[in-house]
Amino acid sequence: KSIGVVGVPFSGGQPRAGVDQGPLKIIEFGLLEQLKELEWQVKFDGHRDYNELQPAADPPVGKLLNARFVSAVTESVASSVAAHLKEGSLALTLGGDHSIALGTVSGTMSVHPNAGLIWVDAHADINTPESTESGNIHGCPVSFLLGIAGQLKEFSWVKPCLTPDRLVYIGLRDVDAAEKKILRENGIKAFSMHEVDKYGIAKVVEMAIEHVSPNGSRPIHLSFDVDALDPTVAPSTGTPVRGGLTFREGHYICEAIHETGALVAMDLMEVNPSLEDDQAVFQTVTIGCSLVRCAVGETLL
Ligand code: ARG
Ligand code: MN
Ligand code: MN
Ligand code: MN
Repeated sequence: KSIGVVGVPFSGGQPRAGVDQGPLKIIEFGLLEQLKELEWQVKFDGHRDYNELQPAADPPVGKLLNARFVSAVTESVASSVAAHLKEGSLALTLGGDHSIALGTVSGTMSVHPNAGLIWVDAHADINTPESTESGNIHGCPVSFLLGIAGQLKEFSWVKPCLTPDRLVYIGLRDVDAAEKKILRENGIKAFSMHEVDKYGIAKVVEMAIEHVSPNGSRPIHLSFDVDALDPTVAPSTGTPVRGGLTFREGHYICEAIHETGALVAMDLMEVNPSLEDDQAVFQTVTIGCSLVRCAVGETLL
């Protein structure tokens, strides 16, 4: 069993500096050694310097900020993820902000066109270029993947590759009004924190998996935004929202997805080691590592 790790030190999908340091910190903390201890063969080519893809000028495209830069980086990420998957490796991408998932999910779908996507997040990240209030592309990747964004020439490489029936959310609690409308109109399955409280995490994860991969019929891509966790658990992230997943709930999601045997790709996004104090950074990075370990098979017993 082998795992291909893609480190994406990129922050252009949102305005706060530091999230680009996430992948470096996570690897510095020893994630690769931890994966080897779990008997994975680890392939990692080092952190690519994505700054070489930054265009000389990148004026707003409508409301979207850094559109050309985000597009170039995510196109490159898509091909890195696809290359690992074609070799039969599990693809693990470390962010960086969540705009990167435009690349990771595109890469997964190019190799496994029927894969299901489990998006664990406080946010739905499904704004369109028209609906976004912030202009931050990390709030938009899902609309691009679904093809409800309307083609922009800056993102001409992006092929709509996801259908609403293969997408499910867990952990939502800060969804913009326009996003709520998009979720409703497209019949997208979402388990907000309300449903986590109501049914418990085990039932929610079971229903989520059954939705995107009935009887394990489809490969699974897990996109995990660390802000899905409660800020008391994972404080070092750019858009924290209180009322989030507990430490165990976050890990349970990863453990249960591992148990399906269907996981082909995972993203760990929005770890920002420049936010809050050393203790907060330690907590957030440590949890990032343990979420990944659980998703690839670490068990408590
Ligand atoms: N909905 C807000 C926006 O579109 C916040 C998005 C936060 N996304 C994230 N990946 N942390 O700007
Ligand atoms: Mn989020
Ligand atoms: Mn909001
Ligand atoms: Mn997100």
